[in-house]
Amino acid sequence: MGRSMRCRAIVVALSLVVSGAALADDLGLEVFTKIAQPSCALCHTLQAAGATGAVGPSLDELAPDRERVVRAVRDGVGVMPSFDGQLTPQQIEAVAEFVAKVTARH
Ligand code: HEC
Repeated sequence: MGRSMRCRAIVVALSLVVSGAALADDLGLEVFTKIAQPSCALCHTLQAAGATGAVGPSLDELAPDRERVVRAVRDGVGVMPSFDGQLTPQQIEAVAEFVAKVTARH
């Protein structure tokens, strides 16, 4: 294959990776606001999701990393229910990735 073909293949591969990441973000937001029942937004404040819940800690302030979100959502913490079984592992990953990313301190 010629040089320009190879370049084009790389561009296509990169844009697939980028749009895949955007899709995961969309899924994370959707899990946060809609799919999880009761929704994360009901109990947590998270600016990026337009959420103002005050039952649990503000996730903007807590700024948990991905692992911490996965653990909380999968196992539950205190009065926060476990979503294991209700959300798929993929949905839990997506919401964790989303929360960690939008609250990461720069
Ligand atoms: C019924 C209310 C409620 C819902 C729904 C809820 N949470 Fe929570 N969440 C809480 C409370 C309360 C705490 C604090 C628990 C404690 O520290 O005892 C908490 C804690 C957390 C923590 C911090 C855990 C830690 O390590 O300290 C994260 C992260 C979190 N929630 C994310 C989520 C996500 C993501 C969802 C949606 C899938 C969600 N929560 C749904 C009430 C809720």
